Amino acid sequence: MTVIGFYGSSKIEGWRMKLSQYLNDFTIVELVSAEGEQADIALVWAPPAGQLAKMPNLRGIIMQGQGVDYMMADKTVPRDVPLVRLVDPDMSNALSHWAILAALDFWRDAPHYRACQVSAKWQPIAQRRASGAKVGIMGVGAIGGLMAQRFASLGFDVRGWARSPRQIADVTVFAGDDGLVPFLNGLDILVSVLPLTPATKGIMNSDMFNQLAKGAFVINGGRGPQLVEDDLLDAIGRGQIAGAALDVFATEPLPANHPFWAHPAITVWPHVAAQTNPNTAAQQVAAAITAIMAGLEPENRVDWQRGY
Ligand code: GLV
Repeated sequence: MTVIGFYGSSKIEGWRMKLSQYLNDFTIVELVSAEGEQADIALVWAPPAGQLAKMPNLRGIIMQGQGVDYMMADKTVPRDVPLVRLVDPDMSNALSHWAILAALDFWRDAPHYRACQVSAKWQPIAQRRASGAKVGIMGVGAIGGLMAQRFASLGFDVRGWARSPRQIADVTVFAGDDGLVPFLNGLDILVSVLPLTPATKGIMNSDMFNQLAKGAFVINGGRGPQLVEDDLLDAIGRGQIAGAALDVFATEPLPANHPFWAHPAITVWPHVAAQTNPNTAAQQVAAAITAIMAGLEPENRVDWQRGY
């Protein structure tokens, strides 16, 4: 019998029901319990630091989300146990929808028309066209690759940036450190769905903003610490950046006194762009558990060195 220790914000009952469609001999219990500490598999989102180090039978750690930075930050998590991240097309789809919503809201001047409506002003402004507008997605892996194609299908001129070269239909992909400057050059909309690693921490800073088109829009659906928050406020203040839509923050929940809350050019989302859904994720989680328990390599295993 495989014992799964569960920790996260979604409901254990939902996972139990869904996993039972794909797994036979298993039980799922709260991770933080005497039984949970004996589990073979940890199915987690941001478990308490030190918790996974206390598990003598642990054979695999499966994330309920896409990012693994919380695990990287806990130095006690055993590095020799396979760590699997969730790659759920349904979540990639949701994140794409969120980024497109944010981009179109800006590009089609929705803030202007919302403000007009408040004072019953009929005030058309010249429509911006998608064709020729440059959208850049940083992090064109499983999530960003789909997003880039979705943007391309809307008629935008789409670029992607990745660590290593790759081909994506209708998208110009730039790779590595050398590719960053040509990728950024003159972008109208910059989206990050990068994982948080030492290389991406603070990557969205004044230097980056200055390479975009004047009045560009910034969307962060990656991780908060990628953005230098003061640099964003400064770039908006001097008109280099027109505004931003942010789903992730250096400190979450975003503190009540944070300047982003009341900023007219910044839209704050409480880390909801792509929520984990056991209905779509359970099949992959079950496949990872089956592989690990059979001593096989699971798909989407995280490379500790690379950081994702
Ligand atoms: C959400 O932020 C995730 O990593 O899945």
